[in-house]
Amino acid sequence: MATYPFEPYAELPTLQSAVTDSFCQLVEQTLASQDTFSVSLSGGSTPKRVYEMLASRDLPWDRIHLFWGDERNVPHDHADSNYRMVKTALLDHVAIKEANVHPVPVAVDSPAEGARAYAQEIEAFFGTAMPTFDLVLLGMGDDAHTASLFPGTKAISESDASFVENYVPKFEAHRYTMTYPAITSGKEIWFIITGAAKVDALKAVVFGERDLNQYPSQGIKPTRWFVDSEAVG
Ligand code: 6PG
Repeated sequence: MATYPFEPYAELPTLQSAVTDSFCQLVEQTLASQDTFSVSLSGGSTPKRVYEMLASRDLPWDRIHLFWGDERNVPHDHADSNYRMVKTALLDHVAIKEANVHPVPVAVDSPAEGARAYAQEIEAFFGTAMPTFDLVLLGMGDDAHTASLFPGTKAISESDASFVENYVPKFEAHRYTMTYPAITSGKEIWFIITGAAKVDALKAVVFGERDLNQYPSQGIKPTRWFVDSEAVG
């Protein structure tokens, strides 16, 4: 029988503590040899707890730059906003300068423009069109989407831009998402997958025949997996 390329965590809180500790260690290691640490954040419920835990850690926030791997097409104060989620969980509780926080400039009526502006902001920060984040945090949905690369959507085949808007038919709504080339250039890519709803998707992603259009998460080659036993089934 094929085996997963990782050891699952028995309990969700243990996994969340492990991500938090690993994040702090990576920041320390990285900042020993460079000035800033850049991270692309994930939405979702599991990372939210990690952000809350990071809020009470002693981190050099003036040297950490936060970007968003995906966003919903809603104003920043909307309940569905990934920016708002991170603000409530983390930003409101730590001394981080506005210049270090890079939310997606959501443009509800013209998401393509908002996405282009973000791609430019990313380029301005990294000095190249394709970013090399020190860390990319990702989750996976029960339909095998990651970031806002949903099955059957056009962003899956984007090979030029780092960040695009993406119409998602099942929500009849636009999302914003980092693209494969931007994600896979990350120096560290951590895939956080938890909960019983993910069992079938995870199996298909790891063991199924390659079909990015159906299982977008197959396009991610994580440097670390953080998976709980429920997601393994
Ligand atoms: C989002 C995400 C998305 C998320 C998965 C998993 O904004 O919705 O970035 O890709 O990571 O849907 O979410 P959970 O951790 O809540 O299962």
